[in-house]
Amino acid sequence: MWWFAKHKKVDIVAAGWLEGMTDIHCHLIPAVDDGSRSLDETRQLLETMRSVGIRRVVTTPHIYRRYPNNDSNTLQQELERLLPNLADLDIPLMLGAEHMLDEGFEAHLAKPLLTLGNSNYLLVETSFVGAPLDLYRLIQGVISAGAIPMLAHPERYLYMNDAEYSRLRAAGCAFQLNLFSLTGMYGEQVAQRARQLLERGLYSFVGTDTHRIERFRKTISSAKTYARYEEPIRALMSRNDSLFT
Ligand SMILES: [Fe+2]
Repeated sequence: MWWFAKHKKVDIVAAGWLEGMTDIHCHLIPAVDDGSRSLDETRQLLETMRSVGIRRVVTTPHIYRRYPNNDSNTLQQELERLLPNLADLDIPLMLGAEHMLDEGFEAHLAKPLLTLGNSNYLLVETSFVGAPLDLYRLIQGVISAGAIPMLAHPERYLYMNDAEYSRLRAAGCAFQLNLFSLTGMYGEQVAQRARQLLERGLYSFVGTDTHRIERFRKTISSAKTYARYEEPIRALMSRNDSLFT
C-alpha cells in the first residue's frame, strides 16, 4: 500500500495544482525574445494560463547578448505599450527579466535593475552547457547591487553536481523550480534532478517558463507527476505569492 501511495501520479492541471498561482517566469512580451511572437499569441497564452488557474503573471523576457536591444528601459517601454491591449483580460501582468550570467551581465547591474515585479529578487540563469568562470563574482555583484539572485531552473543545468548546488545556495542564491521539469517536459534526467532538489528542500520558488502557445497547450494537455509533490509545490506557490503581498 505504501508503495502505491509513493508512486501514485496525477495530472497536475486536472488536479488543480495551478489554481491561484502567481507565475514568476514566462516570456510573454511579443517579439523581444524566443517567447511569444505576437500580440495575438500573448493574448492566447494569457487566456490559456488563466484557464488552468494562473491568476497573476510576472513576465520575464531574456536579457542577454542574443537579444541586444533588451534592457530594463526598453523592456519597461514594451510592457507599457502592451498593457493597454490586454486590459480586458482578467489577469494582472508585471515585469521582470531572466538575466543570463555571462560576460555581458555586469553592464546590466549598472542600470536600473529589472527585478521580479516590485520584489527584490533578480531572476538569473546560466548556459545549459556550463557556468561562467566568474559565476560567484557575478552572484556577489547582484547582492552588492541590493538584489537577491534567484536561479532559474537549476535542475536543467546537468553540468552541476550536488556540491555546486550547495555552494550556490550558501552564496545566497534562491532556486526556482521549473514546474514542468517534474512532468518530464525536458526529459527524464532533468525530471530526476528536479525530484532530487525538491525532495532535498532546495527550491524556494516555482515558475512555468512558458514560451509559445503550441508548446504550452501540449504541455498542459498531459502534465503528470507524483501526487506526493502537491504539498511541497503548494508551499513554493505560497512563496511566489509572498513576493507580491
Ligand atoms: Fe525562461
